[in-house]
Formats: sequence, structure tokens, C-alpha cells
Amino acid sequence: MNASPIWHPFTQHGLGEPIPLVTRAEGAYLYTSDGRRIVDAISSWWVTTHGHAHPRISAAIAEQAGLLDQIIFAGWTHEPAETLAGGLRAMMPPELTRVFFSDSGSTSVEVALKMALGYWLHRGEPRHCILALEHGYHGDTIGTMSVGARGVFNRAYQPLLFDVETIPFPAAGHEQDTLDALERACAAGAAAFIVEPLILGAGGMLIYAPATLAEMRRVCARHGVLFIADEVMTGWGRTGTLLACEQAGVVPDILCLSKGLTGGAIPLAVTMATEPIYDAHLSTDRGRMFFHSSSYTANPIACAAANANLAIWREEPVLERVADLSRRQAERLTTLAAHPAIHDARQLGTITAFEIGGAEGYLSGIAPRLLAFFRERDLLLRPLGNTVYVMPPYCISDDDLERIYGAIKDACEAI
Ligand SMILES: Cc1ncc(COP(=O)(O)O)c(C=O)c1O
Repeated sequence: MNASPIWHPFTQHGLGEPIPLVTRAEGAYLYTSDGRRIVDAISSWWVTTHGHAHPRISAAIAEQAGLLDQIIFAGWTHEPAETLAGGLRAMMPPELTRVFFSDSGSTSVEVALKMALGYWLHRGEPRHCILALEHGYHGDTIGTMSVGARGVFNRAYQPLLFDVETIPFPAAGHEQDTLDALERACAAGAAAFIVEPLILGAGGMLIYAPATLAEMRRVCARHGVLFIADEVMTGWGRTGTLLACEQAGVVPDILCLSKGLTGGAIPLAVTMATEPIYDAHLSTDRGRMFFHSSSYTANPIACAAANANLAIWREEPVLERVADLSRRQAERLTTLAAHPAIHDARQLGTITAFEIGGAEGYLSGIAPRLLAFFRERDLLLRPLGNTVYVMPPYCISDDDLERIYGAIKDACEAI
């Protein structure tokens, strides 16, 4: 039996793979108990934006922990949450007037789905059907798995998942099929359409055009179907702009944010909504309130971390750093793409992705071999099957990028 009682996420303990013990992190580096320095090439599951243990964010956490650690948020409020909600309103599209707090990307999506159904019920014209994009991923709770792609990840839980209507992914050259299917589904009276804007993350870093996102938004608006943008991965500069939706000139009815909201330091999420969605729940009838909460909703320490993140965005040239990283990523990808083992090299902002070898799935045998290969070279890269992607913190150095792409090239030759 493994000495540790911990059951890790997305880990097959039966394979006996080593699980490094990390003791410290700074910038783009993770330090392990056996003295290794690992380059974090995937921002610790896409959360770390400015770098690990950012001094402004760490200081804000420490200060807030000594002041107010936790307070019930139903019927109570506190300054870090008020400041954060005001900061988000100032930074995000003005149509998104309301801020609902939760704790993770998954819960921000659950909240979005519940808001959408509540909106229709309280308007007196209940609509139930949720539309979702093929290959989408929105989390691992029952609701988010229901709106995500079905497959090996959730096969065992199928009986618990609710039905959604899946709209085909707008692959290049097939955008019209997507738009036609969306038009039909919207005309049939759907409640909401949930999308990952411009890039589908866990589904394999699949990229589609801003013009298609804009057109999908227009179709929904024409039919009054609520448009939910899940920017849990894409938000906070990942795709080159603060929000991916910006590149398509799209403002959603509901916006989900998490991961980089605190710079990746501590869990927190928000679901932002337009006034009509809030208004639909507004009443003197307690039966119409929005029935969602969790114990740690708007935890003050997490809000303080997010306020520090927003201050960094306001006061430092974050988008210039993002543009610089995007350019440096492009240079390396261009060179790597010439390798015969690399297929479908693609990039969106700070994210690059490509397949090694032919088309395989998430359980492709190549994935664990790649993982081990990179781990031996002190790199944190975690391929999705044979899809390898590089999504580093914005502070990563040229030398470290060079090491990452050098190791990927070596992997192509060795594996
Ligand atoms: C687009 C998207 N939505 C939701 C989630 C779920 O977020 P969390 O893991 O914080 O629950 C993820 C996680 O990767 C994601 O990429």
C-alpha cells in the first residue's frame, strides 16, 4: 500500500507513478523536497498567471488572514468582497452588473446554469434545455459534467447526468454547420448556451475563430437564449486579452471566472450576470431568492488575494507581458512545428498546443511516457493524451521556454 493516505485527482495510483513532494514555489518554479527545481510549464493547471507566490498577492493574503479570516456571506458582507465586486464591475463589460461569489470554476458554472433556469422560471416562461458545445469541459461536478463532453471521464456517472443538446464544434470550414445547429436549437426554445470562448481547454486545446463566437452570440441574442461564457481558463489574459470574448466583441449574459482571479494563489470564483437576470430573482417573495451558497462564499482572504490581482492588472503592464510571452511562444512553436512528429501546431495568446504522433485519445499510451520524460527533465508538462500544450506563467524566462521546447523536441525523437 502507498505510504500516503491521499487519493489524488486524475491519478491512477495503481500505476505506482512517483508523486513529487513540492515544498516551495516562486515565479515559474516549483521546488521539491529532494532538491529539484521544476519549471511549471502549465501554470499549475492553468491558474498561475503572474507567477507563483507573487509578493503583492502573498502580502495581501497574510494581511487579511490577521484581520478577518471568514464570515458567513448570507446576509453579511465585508470590505474585501465589496472592493472586489466594485473592481470587477469597473474592469469587466458594463452590462455585467451583478457579481455572485463561489469557490471554483465548477461552482461558477453550476451557479451560471442555476441563474439561467431561475431567470426563465421567474419570468413565468420556464425553459429547461441547455445547449453546450461539443468537446466542451466545464468541471467535474454533476451539473458541469452534464454540460461537458461525455467520455471516459464521466462514463461511470452517466445515470446522474442530465440531458443537454450538443452543438457541433465549429471546426475550420464547418462553422456554418455549428451555426445552423445552434439556430435550430435556439428556435426550439432553449434556456441557455454555454461555451468556452475561442479555445476549448480540456477538450484538447481546440481553437475556433472569433467571428464564429460573435455569430453564435448573435444567434442566441436573436432568440433570447442566454449566452454563458465560461472564461474559467481563458480569462485573465490567457488568450492575449483580459477576456477571450473581447476578441469577438462579445458580451455574454453570464460570465464565469475563477483560476487567475486570485492570480492563481487561492481558490475563488465569480459568476457575473446582467441586470435582467438579477431582476428576475428580485422580489419580496423569499421563494424567488437565488438558492445557492457554500460555506466559504466570498472568503475574505481569497477576496483580498483577488483584489491584489486586480491591482496588478490596473497598475502593471500585464497585457504587455502577455503580448511578449505570446510572441516568444510563437517563435518557438514555429521552429518546433517543422519537426515531422508534430501535428496541427496552434496558438492562442499565451497558449500553444500540438499533437505528437497521430490522432489518439486521452488514454493514449504515449501520455504517461511523455509525462515521465518531462518529469525526469524537471519540467511540469501534462499532456492531454497525445496533445501537448505549453501554458506558462507570464513571468517565464527565455531560457526556461528554450528548455521546455528543447525537451519537447527530444521527446519527439525519444518516444
Ligand atoms: C473552461 C473550464 N471551466 C471550468 C473548469 C473547472 O474549474 P475548477 O477545476 O476550478 O472547478 C475548468 C477547469 O479546468 C475549465 O477549464
